[in-house]
Amino acid sequence: MTTNIKKIPVHELKLGMYLTGFEGGWFASPFWSSRFKLVNADDLRLALSSGLKECWIDTNLGLDIETPTAVVQYEIAVVQAAVQNRNRSALTLDEELINAAGLCKTARQLIISMFSDARLGKVMDTSICTGLVDDIVCSVERHPGALISLSRLKAGDDYTYMHSVAVCALMVALAKAMKLPINDVREAGLSGLLHDIGKAKIPLEILNKPSTLSEEEFATIKRHPEHGFDALLNGGVSDRVRQVCLHHHERMDGCGYPHKQAGKAILLMARMAAVCDVYDAVTSNRPYKRGWDPADALAKMISWKGHFDPKVLSAFIEVVGIYPIGSLVRLKSEKLAVVVEQNRNSYTRPWVKIFYCAASACVLPAELVDLANTNDDYVVGSEDRERFPSEVIEKLWAGNLAVKST
Ligand SMILES: [Fe+2]
Repeated sequence: MTTNIKKIPVHELKLGMYLTGFEGGWFASPFWSSRFKLVNADDLRLALSSGLKECWIDTNLGLDIETPTAVVQYEIAVVQAAVQNRNRSALTLDEELINAAGLCKTARQLIISMFSDARLGKVMDTSICTGLVDDIVCSVERHPGALISLSRLKAGDDYTYMHSVAVCALMVALAKAMKLPINDVREAGLSGLLHDIGKAKIPLEILNKPSTLSEEEFATIKRHPEHGFDALLNGGVSDRVRQVCLHHHERMDGCGYPHKQAGKAILLMARMAAVCDVYDAVTSNRPYKRGWDPADALAKMISWKGHFDPKVLSAFIEVVGIYPIGSLVRLKSEKLAVVVEQNRNSYTRPWVKIFYCAASACVLPAELVDLANTNDDYVVGSEDRERFPSEVIEKLWAGNLAVKST
């Protein structure tokens, strides 16, 4: 179907119209999705009270401004029925994992091309990120664990790119948990995606060096926040996104870099990025080190006094749970499983992928189980990851969904 886009005053919006955007762009929109049919009175009220003056509608996909009253009445009845049936968790977790795998692939390609532009000194065009961040926000809203789990899987030189996707997903989930307004949630996601863009200016042999960095090499790496801030100067992002690039390595005690900012002088979103960045970094496998178990990582991060904002870290723990996504756990049934999604009503009954029976030392066909819906099985504790090669664990629970470098 062809499109027929029309600009109308926001106060003329009505149920049944297909909204395609607001004057002022993506960040001005009060909605999660940038293109959708207005099917609910609350959404209409939100649009009318947004303070925005003009918007665009597609009259081939929804009502026009001059649609006769009878048609409007009919459409309202149809859309109200749709509201009854609308379910934000329309995808099952299995379906969401497949969707998230696709998002990871798209995000990886997009980040690679942005790094390539930054390396060549081209002006960054971040507008291509907005649709992707929208999709990531929707995925995290439906099943936060899916994208967070899959983006933990990183292969070799892909680390920098997939780390950006992981921090993006974690930032979105954290911003939502902190009940930030939707525009801030989007900006948190975009900040996560771009926070390390300055690494494009670091020579690859230093960035991907598999052994310990020399003092000089480390000093080179530590310049990436300033490189990122500069690279995004005309990149179409807000000053806040650039500030996250510049300050995500600052620490609450003033011992971070590049400006040794301390406490609340550090932008809230940069304090959030510091937590998400370190968590993903320490839990990721690298060619030269095995990633920490997520539960151990949280325990260590809590013990590092002066590093993180305690309130932000508490909210983050709420997001990832006491058995965080990716943790290897032992169930009461003596089966081993990897946590793939939290259950807010019971932290000992998350969604897990069971893959091994410790009692019989047998590998089981990977099975997704919602422990909240089982009568007699639950997590009894963390399991030692050293017993299994990490690739084996990842292969067993993620199957072929991990994004491969090509
Ligand atoms: Fe960084």
